[in-house]
Order: sequence, then structure tokens, then C-alpha cells
Amino acid sequence: MKKRILKSITLLLVSSLIAVTFIGCSNDTSSPSTKVDAPPAATLVMGTNAEFPPFEFVGDNGQPDGFDVALVKEIAKRMDAEIKIENMEFKSLIGSLGNGKIDLVAAGMTVTEERKKEVDFTQAYFTANQMIIIPTGDSIKSASDLKDKVVGVQEGTTGDIIISEDDVEVKEYNVKEVKRYKKGIDAVMDLVNDRIDAVVIDSNPAKEYVASNEGKIVAIQSGMETEEYAMAVKKGNTELLEKVNAALTEIKEDGTYDKLVKEYIQ
Ligand code: ARG
Repeated sequence: MKKRILKSITLLLVSSLIAVTFIGCSNDTSSPSTKVDAPPAATLVMGTNAEFPPFEFVGDNGQPDGFDVALVKEIAKRMDAEIKIENMEFKSLIGSLGNGKIDLVAAGMTVTEERKKEVDFTQAYFTANQMIIIPTGDSIKSASDLKDKVVGVQEGTTGDIIISEDDVEVKEYNVKEVKRYKKGIDAVMDLVNDRIDAVVIDSNPAKEYVASNEGKIVAIQSGMETEEYAMAVKKGNTELLEKVNAALTEIKEDGTYDKLVKEYIQ
């Protein structure tokens, strides 16, 4: 008998507890949906090398910023995804797509036949070319004057590839030595400090570096082929490729692209 009473008391206690909990919850009638957890938003991991202004650089707050960053933020928004940025060496970007560390490369990356074997490129979003940075008043007037010069490049970039190939076999420019730097700005600093003769780098960062070293250096056209920048995904990731391409088309058509160009590039 005692046991039964105890049982019913326990039951009563438990059920009232449940009731209280339930009432407690249903009291909040303003947002009943908050009880159901929203599915976590998909995350788009962008890989870049934030050493390439105005496309990517580390902002005053220590976070990557620039045209590519803003562009990928727009893409992520249209894909309903959150964006996470992995900042790494330029030459590590393609490998990081392969091993899944990142989903998308946005790094002012030029579409090349060699790279196409390793990644899938989106539609192009910018046209650029290589420029030669030299000390103000220098005798170098064109790429053919790079003969017997020590030339600085950013490791793994098209500037590096063109000049290094030349060094090995083509001998079009006949440079004396190619110096490879992790960061373009370090090559520029060595140029300013007279340690190398010239820097070959993409046109937009070239102009930025010249502007921030007023009077000391100038940038001249290299005459090398123009280059198309595109974003890259892991080979075969057509699902992401299509989404990014669709978003890029929209961004170009609705004026967002021009707005970002004005904000970051012009
Ligand atoms: N356009 C050149 C290339 O594809 C240089 C890109 C460098 N980008 C960077 N974020 N550091 O090789």
C-alpha cells in the first residue's frame, strides 16, 4: 500500500514537472518557431592569398578584405551560405582544393591550361596582364630589356611561370636570375632597396605598389599576353561550379559587379 502511494506521488510529481516545463515553453507564443532549430547554414570555405591588393589583402582589422573577398561574400549570400576564409600561400591553393581544406579559390587566379588539368574554373571575372616594376628613371623600357637582370616574382604565379620558363628553355628575355618571394610586396621592397633589378607582377597590384612607394618606382607594360581571372573549385565539383557561375552571372547583370569594381579597383 505504502509503495503504491509513493508510486502515485512520484507519478504526480513527474507529470506536474512535465506540465510546468510545457507551460513554460508555450508561454512564449511570440515566436513558436524558435523551438525548432533552423538547419545550420552551409559554409563556403574560400581559399586565398591575401597578399594581392586590391583583390585581396589583410584589412586594418586583421581580416582578409578586397575585391575577391567582397565578390565571394555576394556569391555566398546568393547561395544562402556562410563564408569562411582560409588565408594561405598562393602556391598551396590548388592542393588545398584537392584535399578538401577549401571549397573555392578566389585569389586573382589566372586561368591557364596547366591549372585546368587540376581544377575546374568558373567563368572569368577580370582581365589583367603582367607589368614590370622598375626603379624610377631606370633604363629598362620593355620586357626585352630584362636581359641579364635579376627579376623578382611572387612564387607560383603566372609572372613566376613566364619568367622561370624563360630562364630554363625559352630564353626570350634571357634574365640572369629569378628571385621568388612568398609575397609580392617583399619583391617590391627588395627592388626599392636595390637588391633586385625588376619585379614582374599583375597589373593591379603593380599599380598599388607603385602608388604606395611614390616616386621611387614605376610600372611599365610587359607586352605579355593578357590573363583572365576566374575562381576555381575541385575538379568534378560541378554542383558548386554551377552555383558559383549562376551567382556570378547575376552579380554581373544586376550591377553589383560594377559597384564592387568602383569600390575596390577604380
Ligand atoms: N594572376 C596571377 C596568377 O594566377 C597572380 C595571382 C596572385 N594572387 C594572389 N592572391 N597572391 O598566378
